[in-house]
Amino acid sequence: MRKANSINIHDKIFTPYISREEISRTVSSIAAKINSDYFGREPLFLIVLKGAVFFAADLLREIALDCEMRMIEAKSYGMGMVSNGDVKITGLEENLGGKDIIVIEDIVDTGHTLEALTKKLLLQNPKSLECACFLSKTSQREAAINVKYIGLETEPAFVIGYGLDYAEKGRHLPEIYIHRQEA
Ligand code: IMP
Repeated sequence: MRKANSINIHDKIFTPYISREEISRTVSSIAAKINSDYFGREPLFLIVLKGAVFFAADLLREIALDCEMRMIEAKSYGMGMVSNGDVKITGLEENLGGKDIIVIEDIVDTGHTLEALTKKLLLQNPKSLECACFLSKTSQREAAINVKYIGLETEPAFVIGYGLDYAEKGRHLPEIYIHRQEA
């Protein structure tokens, strides 16, 4: 049976999971921590496209620091639901040496994307490097990475909305939806 308000994307059914209210509370709590941790500093936020676009837009509008932002793109999932482990990063041409960098990501799953990205960034000798991820599937982690700011823990199932896509669909949805395997 289908639950009320479920939506179909391609071949899968997704049901409501995280509401606008919870998203907004979570963003405010991450922003408050960053505002306090970086007081008196001028961080550079590195927004990982495309998935982090809405999270970054909400988060940065609650940042009360002198800061800068840049966009980069990381691709690992192709058109499916399983990370192919082959991470392609574009847009990192500019030197970020000496900066306090905060990477803004939508979700960390196996951790391979963030691991590849942080390795590249560390080669540029930033002053500091931290990550802010809206969601984390910590039980799925394969790479040893440290994420300082995590919004919410999520179960190991595929989610869409608030920037997250399934084969490029569903990013625009204001709430987050989940696909659980049918019993
Ligand atoms: P990781 O490399 O396995 O940590 O995967 C990170 C990237 O995979 C994220 O930036 C997302 O683009 C994508 N991803 C991981 N889990 C999901 C999901 O549940 N929905 C949509 N995209 C996801």
